[in-house]
Amino acid sequence: MKILVAITGASGSIYAQRLLLNLENSPKIDKISVVFSKNAIKIYESELKTTVKETKKIQIFEAQDFTAPFASGSGECDAMIICPCSAGSLGRIASGVSDSLITRAADVMLKERRPLILVLRETPYNLIHIKNMETLTLAGAIICPACPSFYSNPQNITQLVDTVVLRILDILKIPNNGFKWGKN
Ligand SMILES: Cc1cc2nc3c(=O)[nH]c(=O)nc-3n(C[C@H](O)[C@H](O)[C@H](O)COP(=O)(O)O)c2cc1C
Repeated sequence: MKILVAITGASGSIYAQRLLLNLENSPKIDKISVVFSKNAIKIYESELKTTVKETKKIQIFEAQDFTAPFASGSGECDAMIICPCSAGSLGRIASGVSDSLITRAADVMLKERRPLILVLRETPYNLIHIKNMETLTLAGAIICPACPSFYSNPQNITQLVDTVVLRILDILKIPNNGFKWGKN
């Protein structure tokens, strides 16, 4: 699988970090394209004191690089995950504003009827957020908020974050060793 991970300017960079690690370790994933929004770069560095580095599987694209394969429906991309997703990006995508590589790629995923997952990180929600989530859900996207669960008794932040990250992998049918209710 070829996956696009877009990191936007919401808090919760650790969700992106854990997502990239889990995708990289999955034999089902051949390639991971990564795009940061302008704001996301600063937030990621301030929350994690590190940056994302290119590897054999990871390729990083600039926020305005419309030559990236996934900027067009003819380019190969099996799924796009926006993690974390800001309310601003949610709104621009819901309005069809394709003014950056991230919003354009999301628009492409929707028009091509391919999986688009938005890991929204905002609280509380206003009516505009809720209506934008409704619009994108009706257009075929999956809103998968950064909303951790506790029933697996997570013992640290990494385990807590993984309750969200591994659910994303579940949605895309990527095998993982996350907690499965009724099996443990
Ligand atoms: C430190 C910091 C944390 C932020 N956290 C959030 C957040 O959790 N959710 C959100 O919707 N916006 C958050 N924002 C605001 C967005 O970064 C801002 O609205 C931005 O324009 C979103 O655009 P982008 O999605 O293209 O990065 C935060 C901004 C800063 C500086």
